Amino acid sequence: MSEGISQADRPDVAESTKPGPAPAATDLFSKFDPLIEQRRALLAGGVEDPFSLVMERVLSPTVAICNGRETILLGTYNYMGMTFDPDVIAAGKQALDDYGAGTTGSRVLNGTYAGHRAVEEALKDFYAMDHAMVFSTGYQANLGIICTIAGKGDYIVLDIDSHASIWDGCKMGDAEVVPFKHNDIEAMEKRLKRIPAGAGKLVVLEGVYSMLGDIAPLKEMVRVAKENGAMVLVDEAHSMGFIGPNGRGVAEDQGCLDDVDFVIGTFSKSVGTVGGFCVSNHPKFEIMRLVCRPYVFTASLPPSVVATAAVSIRKLMHGAAKRAHLWENSRTLHQGLRDQGFTLGTDTPQSAIIAVIMPDLERGAAMWEALLHEGLYVNLARPPATPAGMTLLRCSLCAEHSPAQVQTVLGMFERAGKAVGII
Ligand SMILES: Cc1ncc(COP(=O)(O)O)c(C=O)c1O
Repeated sequence: MSEGISQADRPDVAESTKPGPAPAATDLFSKFDPLIEQRRALLAGGVEDPFSLVMERVLSPTVAICNGRETILLGTYNYMGMTFDPDVIAAGKQALDDYGAGTTGSRVLNGTYAGHRAVEEALKDFYAMDHAMVFSTGYQANLGIICTIAGKGDYIVLDIDSHASIWDGCKMGDAEVVPFKHNDIEAMEKRLKRIPAGAGKLVVLEGVYSMLGDIAPLKEMVRVAKENGAMVLVDEAHSMGFIGPNGRGVAEDQGCLDDVDFVIGTFSKSVGTVGGFCVSNHPKFEIMRLVCRPYVFTASLPPSVVATAAVSIRKLMHGAAKRAHLWENSRTLHQGLRDQGFTLGTDTPQSAIIAVIMPDLERGAAMWEALLHEGLYVNLARPPATPAGMTLLRCSLCAEHSPAQVQTVLGMFERAGKAVGII
């Protein structure tokens, strides 16, 4: 550069430092375009949006007002019908009066009230286990436990059809993630045997898989996991309260609960409120309260919620008659739908979920709407939440559905199925 001429005076340099037009922003939403288009096309056909239904009033665990009409609820996972239990409601109201609307704090700071301890005691009694830790949701329970216990150098071996919260827990941690084919014991064993000697291993399973309502062969899977030196976590979100002699889930039913290291569950299904938990007999389990980020770095459940959960869990310990009735409902609906010619997710009723397989999304949405017009609410499920790209109408039964309601539901399915051309 020649002496005496500053850079700014040189026409070439001055030109290049002038701010140019800002580059066009990449629209971070463009990745959703295919989904936006699919949704637009579906709704353009005039079908009601299956993913924005409003429950205008809820009258009971089995009936709500939707679009101004009385609607039977068959897609709420409210398996034991505890949402309107008078003792549960009374406990929630009392806790609101005694403790206020919320804790405004983490469990490890100001967010542990007497009610949080009480619900953990109820869980320990329910499962007959030494430790119970309550999270703000079941989603957070899976996130927290999985990403905290399986760290760098460890391996997580999990069923490919695992719930999103399990996959997200894997993503949040540093462990190697090794999926295996749904409910395939041999595939699971093969993967376990390939893991380097000495590495930590966590096998993650579910009692009931909520898309098709099928159960896992837990007894055999837990045995194989243990023989291969793995710890085992079982998510019993869809079986707690209902399956097993004491409602502890599929592991209890198949006689392998003692070999399960961690049971994950939720309050948002059989318990009838919101929240999640992990129970365990591991002697060092309590350290999780200090190291598990989704437990530490979030506010604890409101006092009214833990109060309702504690009463509900204690009542579920005496729920044998309700469990028997729920099985009856499940068998009746399964048999009835099969007889009508629907294709179901399982050959036999294995849980309180009965999945009706639809030929495609369009006819699934049309069937969903036809049922709603009949006065029946079920869940429409589609990929990626569903396995093998299926569109499903998922029915979840409640112990409070009367035999007459189940017969009414069958009549609605038959009329809707014929109208849409599925049966
Ligand atoms: C298998 C399974 N695990 C965990 C959860 C999360 O439970 P929550 O609703 O309490 O977040 C669900 C909820 O659908 C589930 O199906």
